[in-house]
Amino acid sequence: MFDLAIRNATLPDGRDGIDIAIQGERIADLGPGLEGDAANEIDATGCLVTPPFVDAHFHMDSTLSYGKPRTNQSGTLLEGIALWGELKPLLTQEEIVERALRYCDWAVGQGLLAIRSHVDICDDRLLAVDALLDVRERVKPYLDLQLVAFPQDGYLRSPNAAANLERALDKGVDVIGGIPHFERSMADGAASVRSLCELAAERGLMVDMHCDESDDPLSRHVETLAFETKRLGLNGRVAGSHLTSMHSMDNYYVSKLIPLMAEAELRVVANPLINITLQGRHDTYPKRRGMTRVPELMDAGLVVAFGQDCIMDPWYALGTADILDAAYMGLNVGQMTGQDAMRRCFKAVTENPAAILGLDGYGLAPGCYADLVVLQAQDPVDAIRRRARRLHVLRRGRVIAKTAPLTTELNLPGRPAQVDYTLS
Ligand code: FE2
Repeated sequence: MFDLAIRNATLPDGRDGIDIAIQGERIADLGPGLEGDAANEIDATGCLVTPPFVDAHFHMDSTLSYGKPRTNQSGTLLEGIALWGELKPLLTQEEIVERALRYCDWAVGQGLLAIRSHVDICDDRLLAVDALLDVRERVKPYLDLQLVAFPQDGYLRSPNAAANLERALDKGVDVIGGIPHFERSMADGAASVRSLCELAAERGLMVDMHCDESDDPLSRHVETLAFETKRLGLNGRVAGSHLTSMHSMDNYYVSKLIPLMAEAELRVVANPLINITLQGRHDTYPKRRGMTRVPELMDAGLVVAFGQDCIMDPWYALGTADILDAAYMGLNVGQMTGQDAMRRCFKAVTENPAAILGLDGYGLAPGCYADLVVLQAQDPVDAIRRRARRLHVLRRGRVIAKTAPLTTELNLPGRPAQVDYTLS
């Protein structure tokens, strides 16, 4: 007798008619027409069942602060940074906690059960660090929150950033961040990458840097990041986030760079929503797209994820914690419209970011945690197309969120009474 059985599911790899049996917190068995009763059942006929969505790049300390103390009138990166500077002195720990918990509620509703969030450590009070460490513990039963010590104002450029970053790590922040393109010179940027990677090697931690978030084709800190990763034996533990300058780099240079990144097993996180809106602002026409070379990086065997970066904060006014929005934008911006490419975009918001975070027990196999999402979608491409409803969200075998399926009633002469936006 199982605790729960999900019947007749379609899986992301294309298998259908699959039953998933759950015992306690884990998947006990999985296959077509499983024998045995269950105390509870979910009928997943016609539905896609996937492990949860994972966001490999987010800023939980600023999320849902839209409008405080004012809105970003120009919508630019620079006004966003200025606005965040105005907001920081007004923040309290309680207010950050309240916004973050509210965002995690949204995330759970969308089946987004693991988030890597950068946390700004340039405020000497480390207010946001204390707030998000508290939130990490409070959401643990339903969401994995991984924190990155992020020197927003520059590791070398901001006077106390180096000391604050180590204080944040001592308090229990998980990952080392950086922002080399924001240092005062290319040499300082490279020096910051070297120091931060050495710190990661010393402490046995992972690295995730905002790297080359610029339209400058000569911003090449990703080369240093890959080189230092190899030199220090950090392969597979280092992620480059954004990498937007790669969009503008010389093609010959990139033909040398991508193999180096592959040798270093660098992880890559593109943030298509924010990058398509913030990059290319100095261009007239044609305007650059500002997303890194996602299909080429995937072809070279690199693990690439799509992150959300910002939701309703100084930099981005939109979003609902639905990371399928990022997959949809990434697919379109990257011209990834081939059948395999579209499926890769679904992996870029599920299994790829799970690998980047190093999540334990993630997947669809006996022994994995019963962390699952039942989607009103026929397959992964359909899920992206419809930004499909999350009918059931399960964490450790328990349903923690439900949403009714989407149907629209029509009142038209000679036409069906309902549409559900499918071909069947
Ligand atoms: Fe970011």
